[in-house]
Amino acid sequence: MQAADENGEFDVDPNQIERRERYKLVCGLVVPRPIALVTTLATDGTVNAAPFSFFNIFSEDPAVVVLGLNSRPDGSIKDTTRNIRETGEYVIHVVTEDIVEKANVCATEFPSETSEIDVARFSLKPSRVVAPPTIAEAPVALECRVMSITPVSAERNIVLGEVVRIRARPGIVDPVRLHVDIAAYRPVARLFGNLYARLGALFELRRLTYDEWREQQAAERRGEPVEPGE
Ligand SMILES: Cc1cc2nc3c(=O)[nH]c(=O)nc-3n(C[C@H](O)[C@H](O)[C@H](O)COP(=O)(O)O)c2cc1C
Repeated sequence: MQAADENGEFDVDPNQIERRERYKLVCGLVVPRPIALVTTLATDGTVNAAPFSFFNIFSEDPAVVVLGLNSRPDGSIKDTTRNIRETGEYVIHVVTEDIVEKANVCATEFPSETSEIDVARFSLKPSRVVAPPTIAEAPVALECRVMSITPVSAERNIVLGEVVRIRARPGIVDPVRLHVDIAAYRPVARLFGNLYARLGALFELRRLTYDEWREQQAAERRGEPVEPGE
């Protein structure tokens, strides 16, 4: 594939390229993505767990999380999709350095009757308000109820879920100020292919009010030194 213009700028119409190429591009460019390790319950009681990086929070009032669930290469739906459809409940564990390797074990396409929990040697604890259990080793768990499942193609469903309970291991969320200790949390990001990332150097960038921004502009015009974010 050759998609550079005369200036060397990469430029394609995503609808004019192969599905695999589109996958490589959007997954390689829309990074970093958090990873949801999702537990669900099959109607026979099997606990299913699988990671999904088409995942994020899209609203806080109500708290809404989104998952992009694809079909398997043979066209069949994944256990997670089937279980969410049938039971309406699931638990999202944000993948951290502590659990990323075991979460990756859960991505193997085991037969439906095999619980990834056993294979990955995770342990379970009851959730607070939903039936699917919570992974005990996961630092953070979001208990969810499905709001809608929207098919965007024959193979992909976008699931909106309301977060109905938020739990975190001691030391991650300050229970009074609700500050998150990011160093204790250590979330992992999905990049592309087999690449993942830990958080790098952190930096602060304060958002200015419009008045502060105008004051900063005026100070610059007066030739006064302006501290970034001041
Ligand atoms: C880091 C990571 C991210 C993934 N993200 C997705 C995703 O966003 N959507 C998807 O359909 N599959 C995704 N997968 C693949 C599923 O985890 C895999 O198909 C899994 O076997 C599905 O399990 P289930 O049939 O038990 O639901 C991802 C795999 C990994 C390792």
